[in-house]
Amino acid sequence: MKNKHVVDLTDLSHRELMDIISLANEIKSKPGDYLDACKGKILATLFYEPSTRTQMSFQTAMLRLGGRIIGFDNPQNSSVAKGENLKDTISVIGGYADIIAIRHPSEGTAAAAAMYSPVPIINAGDGGHLHPTQTLTDVITLHNELGRLDNLCIGLCGDLKNGRTVHSLIKTMSTFRGNKFVLISTPELSVPQYIKDVINASECDYTEVTSLAEAMPQLDVLYMTRIQRERFLSEEEYQRQNGVFVLDKDKLRYAKKTMKILHPLPRVDEIDVEVDYDERAKYYIQTVYGMYGRMALILTMLKNYEKVFAPRVMSTHPFKCSNPRCITKSEKYLPSIFTEAGGDMLLCRYCDGRTLI
Ligand code: NCD
Repeated sequence: MKNKHVVDLTDLSHRELMDIISLANEIKSKPGDYLDACKGKILATLFYEPSTRTQMSFQTAMLRLGGRIIGFDNPQNSSVAKGENLKDTISVIGGYADIIAIRHPSEGTAAAAAMYSPVPIINAGDGGHLHPTQTLTDVITLHNELGRLDNLCIGLCGDLKNGRTVHSLIKTMSTFRGNKFVLISTPELSVPQYIKDVINASECDYTEVTSLAEAMPQLDVLYMTRIQRERFLSEEEYQRQNGVFVLDKDKLRYAKKTMKILHPLPRVDEIDVEVDYDERAKYYIQTVYGMYGRMALILTMLKNYEKVFAPRVMSTHPFKCSNPRCITKSEKYLPSIFTEAGGDMLLCRYCDGRTLI
């Protein structure tokens, strides 16, 4: 692999992504051939935020490859509770493990960790920003269940503002030609501007709508998401958004027979349980594809790498990122790194936040 770390799935070329999908399917069909593939290797799972699927999927993936696992799922039981910074945690664990999967509530954490890690970093979710291995799960599901990744009409519904799985999925799917995104949300929870900019710069298209039923007939894929309660500033604000979009059998009457329903899970109440019995519902099989995808990714990332201490990175600008959820807000020693986005606009390299100078 060209990149040592996976902060987003777009860190992989199309060739690398297709190779990983093929490898995932190969492992799925012949799991016995891979029982020792990672023998002697250690995966560290550092989860600073709750998780069921992603954490266990990573752990199961490594165990099924014959490797071993270390890590924490409650940072209060680690030195983080004593005030240890991310740089030190990553530098130390990078000396113990061969690969690290990290989830953190601050946006841009994986990019910051990658800056100090001697071993490959996989972003397992950084706040409301990105979640590349969920996208890997989603693309394997689409590839296997629909047979293609291009020329699809993809509806994304729910919390498109805070849903990191949505951002990563749009970024990756807009690298395939002819995809059309139907963004179904309330105006308050629409996708961030930087994601719209990604679509605008691609050979894909998007529309924004507020009715799930009206969007339904044209969709090849419906990607439902949970309203991300933990990202809201107040409970009232969350309650105003919760329950606005619910997929039930009635709405499915307007959908194509071949449409596939995906959801990164956990579901709260945005999909009625009745829908689970519809053959278009793919969210349980999606979790299985995710485990094989992570096996393929770990195996690929562990191939041909050597532990090397990352070189020092210097600030590119004297400014600070203005996104209050950016990792640079809590980890003050991080260099300020921006790319210039034209005019007076800077884009933070950690969180993609926009800062005006
Ligand atoms: C998602 C996440 O953590 O972003 N879950 C997952 O990893 N499968 C989606 C969510 O929490 O809503």
